[in-house]
Amino acid sequence: MKSAIEAMISRRSIREFEDELVPDAIVREVVQAAGCAPSSKNTQPWLLYLVQGNDLEALKADYLAAFDSGVKPNPGYRYSPDPLPTSWMSRARACGIALFQHKGIGREDTDKRRAHDRENFHFFGAKQVFFIGTRASAFSYGTFLDCGFVLDNLMLCLDFHGYGSCPQYSAVSYPDILRKHIPATEDTLFIAGLPIGRPKADSHVNRFQPPRLPIDEWFKCVGSAKF
Ligand SMILES: Cc1cc2nc3c(=O)[nH]c(=O)nc-3n(C[C@H](O)[C@H](O)[C@H](O)COP(=O)(O)O)c2cc1C
Repeated sequence: MKSAIEAMISRRSIREFEDELVPDAIVREVVQAAGCAPSSKNTQPWLLYLVQGNDLEALKADYLAAFDSGVKPNPGYRYSPDPLPTSWMSRARACGIALFQHKGIGREDTDKRRAHDRENFHFFGAKQVFFIGTRASAFSYGTFLDCGFVLDNLMLCLDFHGYGSCPQYSAVSYPDILRKHIPATEDTLFIAGLPIGRPKADSHVNRFQPPRLPIDEWFKCVGSAKF
């Protein structure tokens, strides 16, 4: 069985899934483990929803209809600074270009690029999707940090069990549609979606793994600290 460190290293974003459900018992275990995340003063400010079956199909249909008719995404918060700092922008560009190259999508191939974007709006075909959020009426930067721990726990626990996931900001592009399909979410700020499932065997796209920076670009030993 994998160690926690092995799961951290092996996890990657999965964008093609087998046509099977993550069993209830594993979903329960993963959610329970994810809820052990730390949070400021143990506030546990996260809200987590799982959508599957007909409910997910109905949600996907509305999402795809919105995307196809050009409805402008209207997420409940802005994920990144605008503009991105130059070095972040160059990494984001490199990642996008590398993913398109990996999928054999050329610069001028607007149809394939749009099809690629569209895959986000049916959650890469996953049969189950988590949505993580918090209270729209009361949140701050730290709230997002706490919710991020839960999201990471979910991804790592799934990887540990041989399942995959893809964190998705695009999955919360249309909060009004999410509210229509997920009851009692009037006061929910949707933060991210997380399609989950068994990674498709021999999937080419699932082999994509963008590189990480050498740690000395973002990690410094201070004073007498060393490793
Ligand atoms: C909060 C969050 C939102 C993301 N949103 C999307 C998304 O909408 N679509 C997508 O294809 N990938 C999305 N990603 C995946 C990133 O592109 C991916 O994590 C990054 O390129 C590193 O690759 P890896 O996850 O395979 O290690 C998101 C990642 C995070 C953490």
